Amino acid sequence: MSSRAPADATPVSPAARAAGRVRVPGDKSISHRYALLAALADGDSLISGYSSGADCAATLACLRALGVAIDVAVAGRVRIAGRGVRGLAAPAGPLDAANSGTTLRLLSGILAAHPFESTIGGDRSLNRRPMRRVIDPLTRMGARVTSDGGCPPLGIAGTDLHGIAHRPEVPSAQVKSAVLLAGLQASGRTRVVEPAPTRDHTERALHAFGARVDHVNGGIEVEGGQRLTGADLAVPGDVSGAVFWAVLAAGTPGADITIEHVGLNPTRTAVFDVLRRAGAVVDATPEALGAGEPVGALRIAYGTPRSFEVTPAEVPGVIDELPALAALAAMQPAGCTFTVRGAAELRVKESDRISALAAGLRALGAAVEEFEDGFAIEARPLSGGMACAVGDHRLAMAFAIAATRASAPSVITSSSAVDVSYPGFFADLQRLTGSGGGR
Ligand code: S3P
Repeated sequence: MSSRAPADATPVSPAARAAGRVRVPGDKSISHRYALLAALADGDSLISGYSSGADCAATLACLRALGVAIDVAVAGRVRIAGRGVRGLAAPAGPLDAANSGTTLRLLSGILAAHPFESTIGGDRSLNRRPMRRVIDPLTRMGARVTSDGGCPPLGIAGTDLHGIAHRPEVPSAQVKSAVLLAGLQASGRTRVVEPAPTRDHTERALHAFGARVDHVNGGIEVEGGQRLTGADLAVPGDVSGAVFWAVLAAGTPGADITIEHVGLNPTRTAVFDVLRRAGAVVDATPEALGAGEPVGALRIAYGTPRSFEVTPAEVPGVIDELPALAALAAMQPAGCTFTVRGAAELRVKESDRISALAAGLRALGAAVEEFEDGFAIEARPLSGGMACAVGDHRLAMAFAIAATRASAPSVITSSSAVDVSYPGFFADLQRLTGSGGGR
């Protein structure tokens, strides 16, 4: 949500076609977890396909500040010398998680078990995001955590933790992961019972580094005191980045796009069911299972556009994809509708993703109704215009995709936000459509 210079803008032209093959950056959620667990492991780890985005660079920077030796010889290949569980060193100054909520929340769970004081904060957007959801369980486990009215920066006085049973109030993989990572370093057992299932990358990653995670009576449990073993792991392409190309194909008549080597973890792919309901042709071809993460190719083609909705129960499974789905709704033939409710969590993401999404799509000519917990869009021809991404990577990509269906050229401002998860986004857009780009 930073105010950016006018130079931070990218033009996007209307596109009559969308076709080709593309690879997206490594999965952001998985990259964070592999780096964090590698730092806590015994021995070296080699992670390939590590996300090129700024969020995952922030995780590496924080780990370096905590004494972890990290070598990035070739882009995407990261060697991490593990320091062992509870082996991080006290940082010399405040830790900077930049725009990354996952860095801040997961690292808080790790720092809570280290016997030193640390401070972790981020940029203006991150420093507005709610942290009581991690502060409360970590405090119950024994840590002392201070905050700025429930927001970062957090001051963490780590200690010997004890396991707890925790029921997060909101479905959140970040909260689940912070508690499980603290639990790994605590005495006794830690149990998390989620209000709804969320992405399970932490559970899979713990397993890949040799730890045991149990699923017991609807809860996820980890025994404290386990050691981790360094591992060589490959990160699949980020399905949440791939979704923008899926939407481009679903919304452009005649389009056909294949995304190679993308993560197909079932806790992340609910968006493809929604795209099918919206009339797109979606084929997933599984390739392999790397460290327990399913990977494959995805082909999406234009089909028969239809009205669609996302129910409140579906929201946790598509929370990061709602901006892309909104873009699709704006691109569909006039009269098609899209409604989502039960998505108030969108208001506490990298931006208020309900009001900023509505404002940006309206600027492109869309008809958007805003609710406290969601929005509704009725498709009509897009005029094009100037849409501001307010520093939010997923909004910048959503607006750019929607703008390809407009009748006139558009400008996306604050467009450098794409660097948070997908630095080559505009170049790939140019290649797949012959439109947009310039950055
Ligand atoms: C993430 C979990 C989700 C998601 C975020 C990444 C993760 O956040 O929106 O982009 O890597 O665990 P919440 O846990 O806040 O729902």
